[in-house]
Amino acid sequence: MTAESILSPEIKRVLITGGAGFIGGCLVRRLLRNTDVDVFNLDKIGYASDLSSIENISVSNRHHLLRVDLKDAVETAKALEISNPDLVMHLAAESHVDRSIDSPIGFLESNIFGTYNLLEAVRSHWDNLSPERKKRFRFHHISTDEVFGSLGSKGRFNEKSQYDPRSPYSATKASSDHLVNAWHHTFGLPVVLTNCSNNFGPWQFPEKLIPVVILKAVNLQPIPIYGDGLNVRDWLYVEDHVDALLLVANKGQVGQNYCVGGYGERTNKLVVENICNLLDKYRHSSAPHDRLITYVKDRPGHDQRYAIDSTRITSELGWEPKYNFEEGLEKTIIWYLNNLEWCAKVRENANYYGRRIGTVGL
Ligand code: NAD
Ligand code: TYD
Repeated sequence: MTAESILSPEIKRVLITGGAGFIGGCLVRRLLRNTDVDVFNLDKIGYASDLSSIENISVSNRHHLLRVDLKDAVETAKALEISNPDLVMHLAAESHVDRSIDSPIGFLESNIFGTYNLLEAVRSHWDNLSPERKKRFRFHHISTDEVFGSLGSKGRFNEKSQYDPRSPYSATKASSDHLVNAWHHTFGLPVVLTNCSNNFGPWQFPEKLIPVVILKAVNLQPIPIYGDGLNVRDWLYVEDHVDALLLVANKGQVGQNYCVGGYGERTNKLVVENICNLLDKYRHSSAPHDRLITYVKDRPGHDQRYAIDSTRITSELGWEPKYNFEEGLEKTIIWYLNNLEWCAKVRENANYYGRRIGTVGL
C-alpha cells in the first residue's frame, strides 16, 4: 500500500511536526516520494534531528522546513499560518525514556506544553477554514503504547486499555493524548490518535536499543543489557508504522484511537542475540559478537512488557505489517553497516557517544 493510494486527492498541504526525527523523517520521505503534496516540516532541530535523509530526495522543492520550537506559542501560530495545512500529523516529542529519567523538564515542555501550543494554533486555523476544507481537516496525534504502562506475562494493550504511564516520558505522552482528546470533545477539533509499539529501522538516532547494540558491537565495546534482559518489547519496522499512520490520517474515524503493533514481541536478550548473530554473518572477522554482551544495572522503573493487539486497525482499515522482525532487523543492520559515517556525524552533532544515561536513583 502506498501513500498515493491512501491520501485523498483534496489533501494538498500537510504539516508534519518532528519531521527531522526518526519516524517523522520516514513519513516525510514517503510523502515526498509517493505523493505530490507540499510537506511543511515543523521541527526545532534538536539533538536527535537530521535532515540528510530528506535532503537526498530530489523533489525537495515540496519540502518546507519550519524551524520552530513548539514551546514558542507565537512561532507555532505563525507556522500554522505559513503552512495553511489540510492535515496535521504531530510527531514532535522528546522521545527517549532514559533521557526523561535524567531530565524530565524538557519532556514536559515539548510533549505537554508543546502539544497545547500546537492544539491552540491548530484550533484557530481550523476555525477559519472554509466549510469544505474544515470538513476534511484532520489533526493526527502520534503516540506510544507506553502510555498504558507495563504488562505482565499475558495480554496485550488495545484501544480500551487504561492509561497507566510510569516513566516521565510516558507520563508526558499520556498527558498529550488527554489534551488531544479534550480538544476534540470540548472544541470539536477533528482528531485521530495512534498508539504504537517500539519502532526500529534506518536513520534512528543511536541512543535506543537496536542502533546502540549495533554500534557497540561494531566498535567491539561492551553491549549493555539492562537488568536481566527479560523485558519484552513489541518491535515494528518503521515503514510499517508509516503505512499505519497514513491510513489512519486519511481513513480513521474522528475521535478514535488506533493501537499499532508488529506482533514482534521479543525479550531484549533475544533481540541483542539476533543482532549479534547477524553481525557474525556480515562481520565474521570479529565474531562471535555475543561475547560482548554485558548485563548492567536495570533502568529505574523499567516497564516489564509491552505488546499490542492491532485488531481494530486491521479490521477497520486493513492495515497489516509487511515486514517480520527478522527481515526488518537484517535490513536495519545492513543499513547501519553502510552508514557508519552518518552515525559518527549525528553522534558528534549531539555530543553523544553511547554513554549510559537514565541511571538517576541507582
Ligand atoms: P525522535 O526523537 O527521533 O524525533 C523527534 C523529533 O521531534 C526531533 O527531530 C525533535 O527535534 C522534534 N521535537 C522535539 N521536541 C520539539 C519541540 N518542542 N518543537 C519542535 N520539534 C520538537 O522521535 P521518534 O522516534 O521519531 O518519535 C516520533 C514520535 O513517535 C514521538 O511522538 C514518539 O513519542 C512517537 N513514538 C515513537 C516510537 C519509537 O519507538 N521511536 C514508538 C511509538 C511512538
Ligand atoms: P529503548 O530502545 O530505549 O526503548 P523504550 O524504553 O522506549 O522501550 O529500550 C528498549 C528496551 O531495551 C528497554 O527495555 C530498555 C532496554 N535497553 C537495554 O537493555 N540496553 C540499552 O542500552 C538500551 C538503550 C535499552
